Amino acid sequence: MIEVNNLCKNYGERKAIQDINFKISAGDVVGLLGPNGAGKSTTMKIITGFMAPTSGIAKVCGFDVFENPFEVKKRIGYLPEAPPVYLDMNVGDYLNFVADLKLVDPVKKKAFIEKALQKTQLSDVKSRLIKNLSKGFRQRVGIAQALVSDPEVLVLDEPTVGLDPKQVAEVRDLIKELKGQHTIILSTHILPEVQATCNRVIIIHQGRIVAEDSIDNIEKLNQGLVTVYVKTKKEMAIATDLRNLTGVETVEVTGATSFKIQVKDEDILDNVASHIIKSGAGLRELTPAKENLEDVFLKLTYGETKI
Ligand SMILES: Nc1ncnc2c1ncn2[C@@H]1O[C@H](COP(=O)(O)OP(=O)(O)OP(=O)(O)O)[C@@H](O)[C@H]1O
Ligand SMILES: [Mg+2]
Repeated sequence: MIEVNNLCKNYGERKAIQDINFKISAGDVVGLLGPNGAGKSTTMKIITGFMAPTSGIAKVCGFDVFENPFEVKKRIGYLPEAPPVYLDMNVGDYLNFVADLKLVDPVKKKAFIEKALQKTQLSDVKSRLIKNLSKGFRQRVGIAQALVSDPEVLVLDEPTVGLDPKQVAEVRDLIKELKGQHTIILSTHILPEVQATCNRVIIIHQGRIVAEDSIDNIEKLNQGLVTVYVKTKKEMAIATDLRNLTGVETVEVTGATSFKIQVKDEDILDNVASHIIKSGAGLRELTPAKENLEDVFLKLTYGETKI
C-alpha cells in the first residue's frame, strides 16, 4: 500500500533522512516513532507528495508519488503537523471546501462530510468559525479534513499533539475505530500512543530507521530474557540457590523477601517456583515483567544499541 525505497532528504548540508526503506500493507496501522528532529514529518511530507526527496522513491497504492501525484493525492488523507485550517471559515464550509479540492464525487460529498463530522465528534460545532474553536477542536477539524474524502490511506503527523488527556483518549479511540477501514501511518514521539493504536512500529532516529517490527516483537527484541519479580513469605537466603538453577541468568535481591530474576524462557519458572516452595521460604508472587517498548525505544534512540 505504501512503499518507500532508499529515501533521502537533505536540507542544504543537513541530512534530515537517510536511506529510509519500508513497506506498509493494506489495513496496517503503523506508528512512525522517534524523538524530535528524527525525520518523521520529512518522511510524511514526501509520502504525501508535499515535498520531493533528494533521492529515492515513494509509492502509494502502486503509484509513484511524483510521477502520478493526482492518483496518490486522491487516495491519501493527510493531517500535517500544523492543521491546514482556514480560521475564517466555519467547520462545515471548510470540510465542503476540502471535499471539493479533493474532487469528491458530488453525490457522495454530503454523506462523507457528515461521516467525518460524526467520527471526529464535530457535528455540534459544524456552524462555528474555526478561529473560535479551542486548539483541540481545531486539531479534530484537521483530522476531519483528512477523512473527508474517505481515503484508502491516512497519514497523520502527530495527531494528538496539543490535546488534553480526554481528547487524546478520544483521538486514540477514533484511530482504533478507523482500523480496518483505512491503512494508517501516524507519527509520534509518545510511546503509549503507538502501543495503544498501532500494530507495527518503525522507530526512526537521526534520519535512519533503527528498528521496525510488530509491537509484540519489538518488546521481546530487547535481549530475549524474561524478567520476573519474585516475592517470598519468609526472609531466607535463597538467591545463590536460585542463581544455580539451569536457565536462570541473573538474580538481584531487591528487598528482604523480594527478588528480580532473569530467565531464558518462561518454562524455567516452574522449576524456580518449586525450588522456592521446597526451600520453605513460601512463594507469594512470581510475575513475569515484559520488557516494555519504552525501554527498547530509549536504548535504540539514546543508547549505543543499534539494530
Ligand atoms: N525546512 C527545513 N530546513 C532545514 N532543516 C529542516 C527543515 N525541516 C526540517 N529540518 C531538519 O530536518 C530534521 C528532521 O526534521 P523533521 O521535522 O522531519 O523531524 P520530526 O521527526 O518531524 O521532528 P518533530 O518531532 O520535532 O516534529 C531536523 O534536524 C530538522 O531540524
Ligand atoms: Mg514533526
